Amino acid sequence: MAMIGGGPGAFIGPVHRIAAELDREIELVAGVFSSDAARSRAAADIYRIDPARAYPDLATMLASERQRADPADFVAIVTPNHDHLPSARAALNAGFAVISDKPMTATLTEAHALAKAVSASGLPYALTYTYSGYPLVREARARIAAGALGPVRKVVVEYPQGWLAGAAEGKQAAWRVDPARAGAGGCIGDIGVHAFHLAEFVTGLRVSELLADLGTVVPGRMLDDDCAVLLRFDNGARGVLLASQIEVGELNGLRIRVYGEHGGLVWRQETPNTLLLHHGDGRTEILRAGDAALGPDAARRTRTPGGHPEGYLEAFANLYRDFAEVLRGGTAPLLPGAADGLRSMAFIDAAVRTSAAGAGWTALTI
Ligand SMILES: NC(=O)c1ccc[n+]([C@@H]2O[C@H](COP(=O)([O-])OP(=O)(O)OC[C@H]3O[C@@H](n4cnc5c(N)ncnc54)[C@H](O)[C@@H]3O)[C@@H](O)[C@H]2O)c1
Repeated sequence: MAMIGGGPGAFIGPVHRIAAELDREIELVAGVFSSDAARSRAAADIYRIDPARAYPDLATMLASERQRADPADFVAIVTPNHDHLPSARAALNAGFAVISDKPMTATLTEAHALAKAVSASGLPYALTYTYSGYPLVREARARIAAGALGPVRKVVVEYPQGWLAGAAEGKQAAWRVDPARAGAGGCIGDIGVHAFHLAEFVTGLRVSELLADLGTVVPGRMLDDDCAVLLRFDNGARGVLLASQIEVGELNGLRIRVYGEHGGLVWRQETPNTLLLHHGDGRTEILRAGDAALGPDAARRTRTPGGHPEGYLEAFANLYRDFAEVLRGGTAPLLPGAADGLRSMAFIDAAVRTSAAGAGWTALTI
């Protein structure tokens, strides 16, 4: 694996490195870790890779890796959003498969361009919608698909955080509140898009219409930081999506609730090894990671026996395990790819545009 981004002090780059290497199928061997050549070189020490493969820029990395007898097989993109399109396109053009963090790009127009590049390249392309890697999220999806709740009628997904409640300080925050680097969406693109993907992933439904009310609460901020979106799904179910980064005290409180004709389920990211299943007769069943009752998809993505908690890193590692399968020529139907990316970008775009225009209900057509 070669990495783009993830330099000294970065958040998600080191997470990708740990997750990719967890099962020893993948090894980080190269990277352009920063747009600053000296900082990129300094990252060789952090990641303990050959300093000669901590490159000063992307063009040099792609050209040098292509000439090696043992080149990297793929590129992981963990830079701020505005860099996703140029980096992914350059890597694909140079013949490298790509796994990228979300959102796919900074804008919907860019996402269309990238989807075209992916399809023209014929190379694997995946997106790390982290929450789709959790075993109990996969179980929730499998149970709903098997009819455990009956036809889905209602979906409530919320993603509260509080870390941008004040002036955004620190570099993780700085690019997230800058439209030139984050894209058209603030909170909606940073975490609302995770909630959107999770809702469609778990239910197997598609959002057909939305009504968005995105607010900017912190004075002077140029992007949204507090979002409410009503959803209608293609089977007639209704939904609510809340995402906020100004809810003081909230950490990473992603939660999804789905209700069908004769059952409901609840999953929370901060207690990811428990899935509540409500039955129509009033009983509530507690499913736990590692339970023998879980289906094959959840079981295959659990590494430790029940009661030995796994979490964020392992969920990420599950996406890398799926990606390794694809690189070997196999399939991983649940691994998010360009189609999911395009859809998510259409969601962000529609929410931002129609909220600003007060446009009311809007079709989501991609
Ligand atoms: N899946 C998730 O749960 C999750 C969580 C956090 C962040 N993300 C996504 O990951 C991406 C990075 O977020 P972050 O929080 O790690 O940001 P960050 O600011 O902590 O790190 C970004 C890194 O990219 C480097 N960089 C910037 N431009 C570069 C370039 N042109 N070439 C090489 N390196 C460059 C920076 O130097 C920095 O090291 C964003 O797209 C974000 O949406 C996803």
